[in-house]
Amino acid sequence: MSDDPLLRVDDLSVHFGGNEGILDRLLGDDKGVVRAVDDVSLDIGENDVVALVGESGCGKTTLGKAMIGLQRPTSGTVRFRGQDIWKSDLEPGDIPYKEIRKSLQMVHQDAGNSLDPNRTIFKNLNPALKKWRPELNLVERRELVHQMLDTVGLTPADDYASRYPHQLSGGEAQRTVIVRSMLLEPDLILADEAVSALDVSLRVNLMDLLLELQEMFSTSFVFISHNMANARYLAGRADGRIAVMYLGRIVEIGPADEIIKNPQHPYTKSLLWATSGLSEINDPIETPPVRKIDIPDPENPPSGCRFHTRCPEAREYCTSNTPDLSGMSGPSDRHEAACFDAHDRIDYRNSDPIADDFDIDVADDAEQPAD
Ligand SMILES: Nc1ncnc2c1ncn2[C@@H]1O[C@H](COP(=O)(O)OP(=O)(O)OP(=O)(O)O)[C@@H](O)[C@H]1O
Ligand code: SF4
Ligand SMILES: [Mg+2]
Repeated sequence: MSDDPLLRVDDLSVHFGGNEGILDRLLGDDKGVVRAVDDVSLDIGENDVVALVGESGCGKTTLGKAMIGLQRPTSGTVRFRGQDIWKSDLEPGDIPYKEIRKSLQMVHQDAGNSLDPNRTIFKNLNPALKKWRPELNLVERRELVHQMLDTVGLTPADDYASRYPHQLSGGEAQRTVIVRSMLLEPDLILADEAVSALDVSLRVNLMDLLLELQEMFSTSFVFISHNMANARYLAGRADGRIAVMYLGRIVEIGPADEIIKNPQHPYTKSLLWATSGLSEINDPIETPPVRKIDIPDPENPPSGCRFHTRCPEAREYCTSNTPDLSGMSGPSDRHEAACFDAHDRIDYRNSDPIADDFDIDVADDAEQPAD
């Protein structure tokens, strides 16, 4: 049996706009290029849950889409059970391209918009089933739709199947879209801010539903959120990981509990500090752990460690050297951080601090609590 994980992302970059020709890149002319995702590597296992968190614009959606084949990368690879998903359509391998496309599904934030308002719920769900599971006849498709509607609590299923989208609440529409993905029996679902538009009680219900489905069908989930509390809820209950993104890079990743109780990267600490209900878990920090500076422009990210312009621990060394994401010594060998301070690098220790206490403040747009 192959040792390949379900999905392996290697040195993945997605850049938008500007001069993107090979010659421009060789000449270093990358003016106007947005480095939405820059050199990200990540493994997703079978039956795995990863919550991807970070501020707006840090590249979560772009990374997620590139991982499931909806956004072509500028460089790097994404392998599904060992097979490059971006080559599969041109150079077929052992796993047919169609099978890969079916196995990697996405649930968006705004479910209502992705349902055709002029069709009943069954007619909204039927085409994908017909396309991707041609072995089923109409009666079997109808039965399956009813079963899944039942599973997600849209009962009586025959009533819901014959409704139109405007006859559903926001939470019900979101459940319907989840059903549409689950019907294809995917191996991985990318849930992009799938619960963000809902109010708090519905949000918890929907997160519980996603966790139930994940367990029931052994589906892996990449759950995108800008909310650390939601990330903790989902990844924590599923024994999964939290990955923290900043300006196109993953700066810390590890088991949910480790990230929440033992954060190593100053950016993770600032997100936790600003999230009510989580900030109290660790020792109280007297000084707010982020400098009072706007999020840098992704067209022109800071040199060295991209967080150095906002990091209260930044030293001269961080302005010209880029920290790699590497393993922490500690209880979990799955905990990695990209920070010279966290790894106690001697060159970092020997250089001068660049942050003064007086310019430290809370990030204006840091995480808001889930409740
Ligand atoms: N198609 C595109 N063309 C140009 N720039 C883009 C495109 N898609 C995204 N970007 C830019 O890439 C960066 C990352 O965007 P992305 O949507 O991935 O961030 P995000 O973390 O999902 O943000 P949010 O939390 O607001 O959804 C942003 O600067 C965004 O403006
Ligand atoms: S490498 Fe330096 S600037 Fe970057 S997070 Fe660590 S201490 Fe801060
Ligand atoms: Mg997004």
